[in-house]
Formats: sequence, C-alpha cells, structure tokens
Amino acid sequence: MPVPERQVLVCVNARPAGHPKGSCGEKGSKELYDKLKAMLRERGLHDRVMAQSTSCLKHCSQGIAVAVQPDNQWYAAVKPEDLEELCARHLEKGERVDRLQMPDIPWE
Ligand code: FES
Repeated sequence: MPVPERQVLVCVNARPAGHPKGSCGEKGSKELYDKLKAMLRERGLHDRVMAQSTSCLKHCSQGIAVAVQPDNQWYAAVKPEDLEELCARHLEKGERVDRLQMPDIPWE
C-alpha cells in the first residue's frame, strides 16, 4: 500500500450506559467504522484512504465524531447514511461536507 492521501479517524470509544459524557460507541460508531471500511474497498479508495478506529476525539457530545487528516476536517453526528456523501465528496474530490461540520465548541 502506498502512503495514504488521507486518514479517516472514527471514534469508537465506549463508556458505560448512563455516563454523563455519553460516547460515540453507544451511538453505533463501531458499526459506522466497519461500514466505512467496506465502502472504501467497494469504491476502490482503500489504497488512497486509510480508516482508523480511535479512542475519544474530545467531542463526545457531538458524536459520532470523525476526523479527516491531513485536512484537519472534523465532522459531527456522522451516521451510516452520511458515508456515501463523505466518500463521494470529501474522500474522492476533496470537498468538505458542510452540513456535517463539527461546531466550534471547546475541546472536552
Ligand atoms: S467518545 Fe467519541 S469523541 Fe469522545
């Protein structure tokens, strides 16, 4: 595999039920990550884009949190149905998906 053009970080951190911070894990981030990996392969992007599951990305209230590097682009409340657009626009064309933009909130 050549050096990837982009890296997509998906927070899969999970906290116990009822934890005040909540977590991306309780919102289904592991399934989202698995779906993204499969989609990258289906779309032939897996040689250019590396997907990585990560621990907390410090925006728990906005999960599922996803970051695309080296673009320093952060996405909030990403759902499985958003992945097609994320792949088609950002990962294939380099266009930011504005509707998923992470709000400018303090880092937790
Ligand atoms: S648990 Fe996902 S950003 Fe903190």
